[in-house]
Amino acid sequence: MRLTILGGGGFRVPLVYGALLGDHAEGRVTRLVLHDVDAARLRAIARVLAEQAAGVPDAPEVTWTTDLDEALRGADFVFSAIRVGGLEGRADDERVALAEGVLGQETVGAGGIAYGLRTVPVAVDIARRVARLAPDAWVINFTNPAGLVTEAMAHHLGDRVIGICDSPVGLGRRIARVLGADPGEAWIDYVGLNHLGWVRGLRIAGRDELPRLLADPALLGSFEEGRLFGADWLRSLGAVPNEYLHYYYFNREAVDAYRRAERTRGAFLHDQQARFYAGTRDPEVSALTLWDRTRAEREATYMAENREAAGAGEREADDLSGGYEKVALALMRAIARDERATLILNVRNRGTLSPLDAEAVIEVPCLVDANGAHPVSVDPLPAHATGLVCAVKAVEREVLAAARSGSRARAVAAFALHPLVDSVTVARRLVDGYTAVHPGLGYLG
Ligand code: G6P
Ligand code: MN
Repeated sequence: MRLTILGGGGFRVPLVYGALLGDHAEGRVTRLVLHDVDAARLRAIARVLAEQAAGVPDAPEVTWTTDLDEALRGADFVFSAIRVGGLEGRADDERVALAEGVLGQETVGAGGIAYGLRTVPVAVDIARRVARLAPDAWVINFTNPAGLVTEAMAHHLGDRVIGICDSPVGLGRRIARVLGADPGEAWIDYVGLNHLGWVRGLRIAGRDELPRLLADPALLGSFEEGRLFGADWLRSLGAVPNEYLHYYYFNREAVDAYRRAERTRGAFLHDQQARFYAGTRDPEVSALTLWDRTRAEREATYMAENREAAGAGEREADDLSGGYEKVALALMRAIARDERATLILNVRNRGTLSPLDAEAVIEVPCLVDANGAHPVSVDPLPAHATGLVCAVKAVEREVLAAARSGSRARAVAAFALHPLVDSVTVARRLVDGYTAVHPGLGYLG
């Protein structure tokens, strides 16, 4: 089994390799091909992987290349985990929005739209190449904004592209734990778009335990989302939102906290990772030790401003590692070995959420086997959630239309129609601001 990782010089690749090293079963990945546009980053990550593999007799063989077509040929699975414009681009996405007084964040609001506008053309090019060079491969998309990018790729790959995120499974795990249940035994009733979903129920042996959580202030105060959103608001919603909904429900506080912060998340990570990649050039240094130290620091500071703004305290130490790699591996296993699994994934709606059309990519529990991922039918969302999901999907469609046509008007519409951008004038200035800093947006005439 051959896996190709696009964005193979990326900082999270050792997490994926670590998961692969723990898989000794039949049908596992035996060959890993890393692709990146930056050879120096590939060299650094290859060093980390070599240290990880030391002493593991059946470690997957690793090769790397900067030639995309060569990387795709012969792949059984393709993980797409690219970051168009790098962390510098992310920092610009955040900064330009905050300068206009609106949320500057990697995937949500104006920052997410700018990131989407940059990324969609590149993702579409990849999808076209996969369709030509590896038509039987399954594409697992980690590239953010994951729902939007998966939808763009699905136009060329159909149901062969599946988007993943670690946040729904992490949320389900935290809720199960606080209820004293085994996360592996729980059915998590979660649905929405990527980074825009709600846990409406958590069934253990057929019984919904979420009402017990919502009724108990002590329990609500004892886990992260409980503190982040507050017991009263969770009770009003009757559901537990994905942590990214903090940017919607507490937008003003989030924007204030981000504007007060010394630097944006992207700028912090940019500096931190520059140090890591530079550090790996010293042959005396253990690249793995350096990577591990950097990873721990990154995880410990994840969404810290939000937690601080909400008085939510730190994320529990045992819940730090997101679990991307686990979702990815579980998905590959279910497909490659036809082992049925239920996973929350980004797939085409078909008829699951009736207010959205069949092509809209949504995030929903899916039954996975050798035939791919099939969304399970879920209860409809309440009106307030349907409203947000439809508004944000309409924005995503404007991004896709702008990327397809190169139309600046469509790009303005994407920003202007977003619930977290409060004026068409601001939307116009955002397009000006982003096209000025991002060479990748030159296509917007
Ligand atoms: C979670 C989300 C990802 C996102 C990441 C940002 O894992 O699911 O989609 O990219 O957080 O974390 P970072 O450490 O880069 O701020
Ligand atoms: Mn995510």
